[in-house]
Amino acid sequence: MGDLKGLIDKLYRSNRLNEDELLELLDNMNEESRKYLMGKAHETRVKHYGTRVYLRGLVEFTNYCRRDCIYCGIRASNRNAERYRLSVQQILLACEEGYRLGYRTFVLQGGEDGFYTDEKIIEIIKEIKKRFPSCAITLSIGEKSFESYKKYYDAGADRYLLRHETASRRLYDSLHPGMSFDNRMRCLWDLKKIGYQVGAGFMVGLPKQTNRDYVEDLCFLKEFQPHMVGIGPFIPHKETPLAKESRGTVEMTVTLLAIIRLLLPEVLLPATTALGTIDPMGREKGLKAGANVVMPNLSPLEVREKYALYDGKVCTGEEAAECRQCIDSRIVYAGFVPDMSRGDSILWERK
Ligand code: 5AD
Ligand code: FES
Repeated sequence: MGDLKGLIDKLYRSNRLNEDELLELLDNMNEESRKYLMGKAHETRVKHYGTRVYLRGLVEFTNYCRRDCIYCGIRASNRNAERYRLSVQQILLACEEGYRLGYRTFVLQGGEDGFYTDEKIIEIIKEIKKRFPSCAITLSIGEKSFESYKKYYDAGADRYLLRHETASRRLYDSLHPGMSFDNRMRCLWDLKKIGYQVGAGFMVGLPKQTNRDYVEDLCFLKEFQPHMVGIGPFIPHKETPLAKESRGTVEMTVTLLAIIRLLLPEVLLPATTALGTIDPMGREKGLKAGANVVMPNLSPLEVREKYALYDGKVCTGEEAAECRQCIDSRIVYAGFVPDMSRGDSILWERK
C-alpha cells in the first residue's frame, strides 16, 4: 500500500502519471488502495463541482445500425433485434416531456442509421432549439464526415458523444469488423476542432482486455482532453458473438472512474446505465468514485426494451417521470445534489 499510496498522492497532486506508473497502480490495486483512491477522487470532484450531479435526458431514437460491433446488441447482423425509428414528432414529444420534468440537456442517441440524413438530423436539431432555446443538445450518432459534424454544429448541436471504445488498436480491430481505428480517432479530433464539447470513453472488462489496454485508454484521454468521458462495464448480449463471455466488474469500473477524475479533474463523468445494470447500487458507487453526471431515459416506453445494447438493462420499464424520481432519490440518498441546469463543461466555458 505504501508505494500505491505514493502513486495515488502523486496522481492527486499533479493530475498525471506515466504509463509505467499507471500500470503499477492497476496491477497492484487492492481493497485498501482502492478506498484511498476513491477518497481522493471524491475530494477532487467536490473541489471542482461540489456535490452536484448533472442530469441529462436520453432519447434513444433509432436502433437501426449499419455497423457490426461484435459486443453490441443492435449490430447489423443481429436479425432478431426488433428495429424501430422515432419520428421527428416523437422525438419532440420526448423532449417536451423531458423539459416539463426539468431537463435542460437532451442527448439524442442512435445507431448509425442512414434513414436520418444530414437534412433530417438538422431538422431535428433546429426544431428542438426553436422550442427549447435554453437547452443543450448532445448528439451520439456515430462516425460522420467533418462536413456533417460541422453542419450539425452550425444547426445548433452543442455536444457530441463518441466513445473511442478502446484505445488499443489491436483490441479495437478485433471488435469492430469493417471499421477503422484511425477514422474513429479522426472523428474525435474533428469534433474538437469544430468546437463541440466532446465525450470520448471506453468499455471495461471486454474479453482479452488487459491493464495495459486500460493504460492506453488513460493516456489517450490525457492527451485528447475530452470534456466528457463515458465509461461502463462490458455486458454480454445474448444475440452477439460475445454472448458467453463474462461481464466487466464494478470494482474495475469504479477504479477507472476514480483514476479518470484525478487525471482530468474537471471532466464530466457519467455514472452509466451499464454500471447500474451490473449492480443495483452501481451508479451510486460510480458517483462516490468521482462521477458527476447521470443520464436517465426519456425514450418512449414502447421502444425502451428494443434499444438493447446489452442484456438486462435497467430503467426499461419506467416512465420518464418515474425514472427521474428514482434517479433523484438515488442521488440524494448517496449524499449528492441533483442539478438540472445545462451543466456545460467548465473547461469549455472558460475557453
Ligand atoms: N456492453 C456494454 N456497453 C456497450 N455498448 C455497446 N454495447 C455494449 C455492451 N454489450 C456501449 C458502447 C457504445 C455505447 C453507446 O454503449 O461503448 O459506445
Ligand atoms: Fe431509471 Fe431508476 S433510474 S428507473
